[in-house]
Amino acid sequence: MTRRPDLTADVSEILLSEEQIQAKVLELGRRISDDFAGRELTLVSVLKGSLPFMADLMRAITIPVQIDLMEVSSYGGTATESSGLVRILKDLSSSIDGRHVLIVEDIIDTGLTLNYLVRYLRGKNPASLKICTLLDKPARRIVEIAIDYRGFQIPDQFVIGYGLDYGEAYRNLRFVGVLRPEVYTDPD
Ligand code: IMP
Repeated sequence: MTRRPDLTADVSEILLSEEQIQAKVLELGRRISDDFAGRELTLVSVLKGSLPFMADLMRAITIPVQIDLMEVSSYGGTATESSGLVRILKDLSSSIDGRHVLIVEDIIDTGLTLNYLVRYLRGKNPASLKICTLLDKPARRIVEIAIDYRGFQIPDQFVIGYGLDYGEAYRNLRFVGVLRPEVYTDPD
């Protein structure tokens, strides 16, 4: 029989349960549906971490929306530290000129990635540009970011699950958990 490694073994604490996440996503979906009623809304999600959040949030929104996906990578940092140098791996598929755009993010940590993205998308002439993030880790913020829709504020811990990874693993956990520090300080 093939041995299946236990993904949860590296989790020291469950920070947000599946139920807490789903309840928050429904609440955000309702607020967004009310605020953008009658307008042309495009959700722009940032791969890969935001994939589960985007999939759940778009279905919690009850007004017509278009979706688009971007993929960015920050480079020059480490697996747990952002560098602020951002490379676009996948750009928008459609024009956002004149549309109301909501960026759907998994987590805002230093704010460097989003700061870059906001400036990039503003240059594409949207009617408005707002930010929705599931998680906000304000302790390490370097750039001030005005968050329009925030799911949860979390402490300064490295978290995984519900899209968030460490070394591309753990994204498929249904909850958000704290990664045991030994995993990244002593990877062997
Ligand atoms: P920022 O540029 O520092 O705000 O970092 C944003 C990106 O870093 C996020 O989109 C995540 O991909 C990654 N990141 C930041 N904090 C965490 C974390 O605690 N767990 C997993 N990824 C994180």
